[in-house]
Amino acid sequence: MGVVVLLNLLAVFLAVISAVSGCSPSDRAALLAFRSSLTEPYLGIFNTWSGDNCCQNWYGVSCDPTSQRVTDISLRGESEDPIFEKAGRTGYMTGSINPTICKLDSLSNVVIADWKGISGELPACLTSIPSLRVLDVVGNKISGEIPENIGNLQKLTVLNLADNAISGGIPGSLVQLSNLKHLDLSNNQLSGEIPKDFGKLKMLSRALLARNKLTGSIPASIGNLYRLADLDLSRNQLSGLIPEQLGKMQVLSTLNLDSNLLSGQIPSTLLSYTGMGILNLSRNSLEGRIPDVFGAKSYFMVLDLSYNNLKGPIPSSLSSAVFIGHLDLSHNHLCGAIPIGSPFDHLAAPSFDNNDCLCGNPLKTC
Ligand SMILES: *[C@@H]1O[C@H](CO)[C@@H](O)[C@H](O)[C@H]1NC(C)=O
Repeated sequence: MGVVVLLNLLAVFLAVISAVSGCSPSDRAALLAFRSSLTEPYLGIFNTWSGDNCCQNWYGVSCDPTSQRVTDISLRGESEDPIFEKAGRTGYMTGSINPTICKLDSLSNVVIADWKGISGELPACLTSIPSLRVLDVVGNKISGEIPENIGNLQKLTVLNLADNAISGGIPGSLVQLSNLKHLDLSNNQLSGEIPKDFGKLKMLSRALLARNKLTGSIPASIGNLYRLADLDLSRNQLSGLIPEQLGKMQVLSTLNLDSNLLSGQIPSTLLSYTGMGILNLSRNSLEGRIPDVFGAKSYFMVLDLSYNNLKGPIPSSLSSAVFIGHLDLSHNHLCGAIPIGSPFDHLAAPSFDNNDCLCGNPLKTC
């Protein structure tokens, strides 16, 4: 009897001890290995990574309160945190992301963002952390390719690899990320085509792939992304027609396809669709007339069709639009009288420059 009570007390005592000390030794070892591959010379954030309890006061590390496993690594080189104010500068780090990070197999958020100097590859083993929800390494010098098995991360909601030096193709498995909401691969060296079945990413609300070397055509399946609000494919080498499906989406409000090699006519759906606030098709090889499909619900903060091969007149329906903030029709082959109406009142000559024979206010009278 006495022994049982004693053993129970001992068990409770041990449980309390382990809860207080927190941080499994293997997580702690993995964090220290991760740290050993990085150099952060200006702020000293890793000085806080000392002592046994990695769940307490280790800068950027958080643990699950119950399991005491490491769930978050959140290291941002640009933030409001007072340490940056104190240092009077933004963060800078060199080194690489040590694959030992993958031993932290309860990780949910990995943010290693805006350190400018972190290089090396994204460890492929990251795709074996099933709990991962956020992977954000924006603003470093990471090279190599997107791990081929990225599609394994079934809980992933945010994938932000923007502003790095990542090359190779977009892995086909990416479209398996059925919970992905925010995809940002902008400003890398990605080549090859956008997967044809990109439209499988049903939860996607932002898809930013600008400033890469992507080729091929824009997948029509993107039209199935009924939550997509922001699509930026600008500054690539995409060719072919603009899928008319892009004008039939539910919530798409920003569409940037500028600086590509797109050809053919502008789908009329794209201009008649009233949810589009920002549309930039500048610097492509679009031809034919501008569809005359604007209406009283048309509201564009930006409508940039400059540097194409558009011909014919400026559609008269454009004068019935509620609002056009920034209109650029310059550097085309348009001809005829500029329509009169309130959307045109504030526009100056540069909106119409370098066409074949446009006339009327703000250009010379017809
Ligand atoms: C549209 O895209 C062009 C070419 O990429 C860019 O120069 C221009 O600033 C963009 N227009 C607006 C209004 O942002």
